[in-house]
Amino acid sequence: MDKEAILALLEETREFPPSAEFTAQANLNGPEMVRRGNEDPDGFWADIANELQWFHKWNRVLEWNPPDAKWFVGGKINLSVNCVDRHLAGARRNKAAIIWEGEPGEERVLTYWDLHREVNKFANVMKALGIGKGDRVTLYMPMIPELPIAMLACARIGAPHSVVFGGFSAEALRERINDCAAKLLITADGGYRRGNIVPLKKACDEAMTGCPTIEKMVVVRRVGEAAGITMHAGRDLWWHDLMKDADDYCEPEPMDSEDPLYILYTSGSTGKPKGILHTSAGYLVGVYATTKYIFDIKEQDVFWCTADIGWVTGHSYVVYGPLATGASVLMYEGAPDAPGRDRFWEIIEKYGVTVFYTAPTAIRSFMRWGDEHPAKHDLSSLRLLGTVGEPINPEAWIWYHHHIGGGRCPIVDTWWQTETGMILITPLPGLVATKPGSATLPFPSIEADVVDETGKSVPPGGGGYLIIRKPWPAMLRTIYGDHNRYVSTYWMRFPGVYFTGDGAKRDKDGYFWLLGRVDDVMNVAGHRVSTMEVESALVEHPAVAEAAVIGRSDEIKGQAIAAFVILRDDYPGGRPSADELKRYVTQKIGAICRPDDVLIAADLPKTRSGKIMRRLLRDIAEKRVMGDTTTLADPAVVAALKEKYGENEG
Ligand code: WTA
Repeated sequence: MDKEAILALLEETREFPPSAEFTAQANLNGPEMVRRGNEDPDGFWADIANELQWFHKWNRVLEWNPPDAKWFVGGKINLSVNCVDRHLAGARRNKAAIIWEGEPGEERVLTYWDLHREVNKFANVMKALGIGKGDRVTLYMPMIPELPIAMLACARIGAPHSVVFGGFSAEALRERINDCAAKLLITADGGYRRGNIVPLKKACDEAMTGCPTIEKMVVVRRVGEAAGITMHAGRDLWWHDLMKDADDYCEPEPMDSEDPLYILYTSGSTGKPKGILHTSAGYLVGVYATTKYIFDIKEQDVFWCTADIGWVTGHSYVVYGPLATGASVLMYEGAPDAPGRDRFWEIIEKYGVTVFYTAPTAIRSFMRWGDEHPAKHDLSSLRLLGTVGEPINPEAWIWYHHHIGGGRCPIVDTWWQTETGMILITPLPGLVATKPGSATLPFPSIEADVVDETGKSVPPGGGGYLIIRKPWPAMLRTIYGDHNRYVSTYWMRFPGVYFTGDGAKRDKDGYFWLLGRVDDVMNVAGHRVSTMEVESALVEHPAVAEAAVIGRSDEIKGQAIAAFVILRDDYPGGRPSADELKRYVTQKIGAICRPDDVLIAADLPKTRSGKIMRRLLRDIAEKRVMGDTTTLADPAVVAALKEKYGENEG
């Protein structure tokens, strides 16, 4: 966040207490549970775990050998049983589990019974393909019901899944497949995005030129002829062919509490993405509890989390959390402005969505598109709103409150990460008064703190680094294949406590105000992008000698990517244009990492010891008056860059 945004946030004083009506019906409506969570965390989590279905219960709630945690030690559980089978006994059997809307407007509803059949069949399909417990399966799919079906089928047979967001490039997909040595790849011929076809299968074919561990590829027919794909005999198989004769019951694998459930890659402060590993029981208990109490899920709710399942928000709050609570989950395939800018509000009205969870960057786009779009629709079914992904500016919060929530819905601003697996800092609706821009207080039992450079707790009013002192059930267990990196990234900065990489401040009421990343990770439209990852992609271009990437503030996206590039004089192919370099990054990593600005410079500002001064680059990109330049080796470089950045405007 830039300085102005932080100042605006910290000057915010409005407060919104929960309404008596909401409190009266809330799943968590008194301070007792919070007290229990904080005073007896093991008992608190055991109570919640007891609501779930186990093959065998645990002997010990937590075994903590920093930084290694084991939760529900000795327990045996299966996530697909808890997300599907558990709901078949009673009235939920015929309830909508997934209500799906395709971008072009098709509808599909799967009851819990339907979901059970599909998951079981696909589990049997995978078994027949030789996939068993512990084998990794990569999923590169659009937002269609087959994606959660495949995930739950993996969970059923104990094969950890690795979902790769469909917006990543073939090369990024290949890197993620190879990192976890996946055996099976599941994709679709294509997906729809703003009326265009996303060529997923073609990207898979391209990735396959360097993925020796993949034996088979299963392809869902989503788009049909228009996708123009080729099936490779012996390797590629159609989903619908395989499903035709599959048996509709598959015995669930009793998984040890600590057996891996999934790997999800996220950006860190080096160029190589980190495979965040989540395990079974603790993850399930964490996402189940947070869904139940933060989204206040009731039997009749229609819950819509707009995140793509390719991100952790989709894993925890489209798939595992809400299905574990037996909710009806709304799933939408496409973009918020396709075909019209009222698409989301149309969907809310059509299906009577009651709980809606989205990102601040989306809210800022809605604001810009105009109040008339939500005003056209009846949004009175909504009773609770949420946000996630980045700090929300108070202006967007207030707009959301009035124009979407009709002034009556509590807003939960939920702070968490791919690594945390579950929401850790959030208002409890019905209990905690909200302040626009603050994620308020830690979830019961979570010990969050703000510390200074030396790890000392900062008194209320002060800012510093956000850390978590104690383990929580859904926390990551390792970085796949690199436990040392796990230890050094999260547990060494402040020995023995979890370092989030975020800056935060606490006010006099103990409320947390998140202030953005303190490492080299950008937050672009709510997505994590590492500066190093973009820099590495740029320097792979043969004409590029050096590149420096920073996140500059952007009104809609929060941060935009600005790249400063020095070209080689001796490159025979000529000088690439800024646009060519942008395209190059898109092709290397994916469109979400495409720089917004590329500035081709003669030199970069460096300290006398040769370190690039990113702070100055940020000042230049944000067109601010220059900060302290006294340590700069050659101040003239900055003046030249400033002049050039000005020229490049528009
Ligand atoms: C940021 C997304 C402020 C934060 C679930 C974190 C937030 C990173 C919030 C994780 C929030 C997420 N307020 N900042 N409510 N939620 N963040 O792994 O910087 O994609 O470290 O997980 O997003 O992003 P990730």
